[in-house]
Amino acid sequence: MDAERQIKEKPDALTLPKLEGHVKFENVSFSYEKRRPILKNVTFDVKPGETVALLGATGSGKSTIIRLIPRFYDVSSGKIMVDNYDVKVVKLKSLRNQIGIVAQETFLFSMTIKQNIAYGKPEAKMEEIIAAAKAAKAHEFISALQSGYDSRLGERGVTLSGGQRQRVAIARALLLNPRILILDDSTSSVDVETEYEIQQALRALLKNRTAFVITQRVSTIRNADKIIVLEKGKIAEDGTHETLMEKKGIYYQIYQTLYETQKPIIEAASERASLKKEETE
Ligand SMILES: Nc1ncnc2c1ncn2[C@@H]1O[C@H](COP(=O)(O)OP(=O)(O)OP(=O)(O)O)[C@@H](O)[C@H]1O
Ligand SMILES: [Mg+2]
Repeated sequence: MDAERQIKEKPDALTLPKLEGHVKFENVSFSYEKRRPILKNVTFDVKPGETVALLGATGSGKSTIIRLIPRFYDVSSGKIMVDNYDVKVVKLKSLRNQIGIVAQETFLFSMTIKQNIAYGKPEAKMEEIIAAAKAAKAHEFISALQSGYDSRLGERGVTLSGGQRQRVAIARALLLNPRILILDDSTSSVDVETEYEIQQALRALLKNRTAFVITQRVSTIRNADKIIVLEKGKIAEDGTHETLMEKKGIYYQIYQTLYETQKPIIEAASERASLKKEETE
């Protein structure tokens, strides 16, 4: 919060038009505190509609990178460009309005499920809310609740599982339909029951927009257009799953480890997917 107060909008700040979703980091360095550089000369270029997966050890700077896009902090040097506008010269509201964030700790309120989904768009029609919930694979479990979309969450209301909470948060983001999406999902609890549904929900969420994802989920990483591996605030490797696997460097090692631990879940989910396919055939 203190840091956010240091962010100053220029008096002549421009209102961003509707974005395409082109995001560029040009030699970005950043530190939260003096003399402790966190990001060092980070450069990348993300085309509209691409999905980028950010990987790296804890503390390597993944969350920091995504905090700079909505300009929660200012870079120490270098530039962040969104559709060729420096984020420093635009109205914060016009920038942040077009960026959807699904955070590490999903934030749901003690309100009804309907209100939680429509949190950023209170004027949303019921049809829109249901469409978003369906795409987020949340409609089925919501409908199964006694009061459906009017069920209250929180202390005296219903309790949702981690995977269900995540899908409500995805429905909320889908309803807002932002051009740029940020998903910080480092602590994703992987559970066999809902993995297939979550994969489907994520696919809907990432489609047709520029997305930055921090995740351990092998299926999401493998499908990313670009993978960036960070090491102590620097880009250690970047490329696609195929090029980085061939390289047999850090990504290769990270991937092997993730794949091994997620193997039973991946197999159960793909079995589930082929069963569903048979059902519909
Ligand atoms: N608000 C802050 N003030 C000062 N230092 C911070 C702040 N947030 C993060 N840091 C430091 O910046 C570095 C990078 O943190 P960051 O949260 O970006 O890592 P991360 O890659 O997202 O890690 P994780 O996988 O654990 O989420 C760490 O050394 C961390 O201690
Ligand atoms: Mg993080």
